[in-house]
Amino acid sequence: MFQKTRDVVALDLGAHSIKMMVLSRGKSMFDFLGSRSARNRTAAQLTGQPPRLLALGISHLPRGTIIEGKIDRPDQLVNAIRVLADHLGIGGKNHPVAIALTGYEVMIKTVTLPTMTEEGLEKRMTEELGQYVPYPVAEVNIDYEIIGMSKDKATHMDVILVAAKRTVVDEYVAIIQQAGLEPAVIDVDFFALANAFEAACGVFPEQTIGLADIGASRTSLGIIHQGVLTFTQDIPMGGQQLDDSIQARFRDVPAAPERIKLGGAAGFDQARLEAVLREVVRGWAGNLRRAIEFFHKNYVETPLDKLYLCGGSARIPGLAEFFQQELGTPVEVFNPLQAIVVDPQQFDLQYLESIGPQMAVCLGLGLRQTSRK
Ligand SMILES: Nc1ncnc2c1ncn2[C@@H]1O[C@H](COP(=O)(O)OP(=O)(O)OP(=O)(O)O)[C@@H](O)[C@H]1O
Ligand SMILES: [Mg+2]
Repeated sequence: MFQKTRDVVALDLGAHSIKMMVLSRGKSMFDFLGSRSARNRTAAQLTGQPPRLLALGISHLPRGTIIEGKIDRPDQLVNAIRVLADHLGIGGKNHPVAIALTGYEVMIKTVTLPTMTEEGLEKRMTEELGQYVPYPVAEVNIDYEIIGMSKDKATHMDVILVAAKRTVVDEYVAIIQQAGLEPAVIDVDFFALANAFEAACGVFPEQTIGLADIGASRTSLGIIHQGVLTFTQDIPMGGQQLDDSIQARFRDVPAAPERIKLGGAAGFDQARLEAVLREVVRGWAGNLRRAIEFFHKNYVETPLDKLYLCGGSARIPGLAEFFQQELGTPVEVFNPLQAIVVDPQQFDLQYLESIGPQMAVCLGLGLRQTSRK
């Protein structure tokens, strides 16, 4: 029957800032694998015109609102969402919201099962879920998708399983409702990130690609091997560590540490700042190296063809080159916004170019669609 597409409001709730984006698209532009899955690979099915940017905004959050993925000050978060939505003219039932849970909040697991139908799989998942998740079954929301035939066993298939504690999901749903919006899609940031990357840069079926979203408090590392997101890891590192180191070393400079980091303060020794930054990001390179080594040891030995960076902290000048030297792998910052069409009359292209890397998860969420029943 005739279905009217509603434009999804993508909402990325980060420790440093919340990001909101609305994309429009013509009919049939995206054809999803199925409505149930959190893991629809949007870019692979992209046909026709890329989506067009309708609205975009970032709003800074007071530090401490979200700590290590946990919402510590829900009132501040609700308020920030409400203010940003109002500013962008977003609200009500016509704007279903898509958010992403992070690696702190979900368990992602690939299980190999005998080949069976969707119905058979549903029955099996219902009956045997307790075997796969480390929480009481009654307390989790799950989602799963067949990712393909198993490479090791000809008669088997690989299924990706995502489980989130119901209390966590309920908390996010309540926050969005309190901000006057309608929660519609709950995704996982690794999947949104992979979708954004493929929409912006394409699908590389022969390659092994690393994606690192380096935010303020955490880094999501995903590795796409031959077009399939094979490995995900949350690493507790990001721009706040730089701010903390600056605060500890520049007590004499009367400016906020983030301002010093971004070059907005004067009256101190620039070389000393660079030394502080280098020390922290050398630690980041070490964390990435260990995670990639773990991937090689336990998943796939093939070296990475390239590591792509995004997230606000990927905007640190020279970071990609530094990682490239430290890791011995080609490294590049990617701008997910190159996946979409932007009207230069409506948006400042230079601004979008600069904030682009920060919008990867948000863009991946914006590529979702829901339809009016
Ligand atoms: N030009 C820049 N140079 C260096 N750091 C930057 C720059 N722009 C933003 N940042 C840093 O990036 C971080 C914010 O990035 P981002 O918006 O991706 O994080 P977040 O999504 O809010 O946090 P998280 O993902 O950790 O929850 C902050 O630490 C900020 O200081
Ligand atoms: Mg983030």
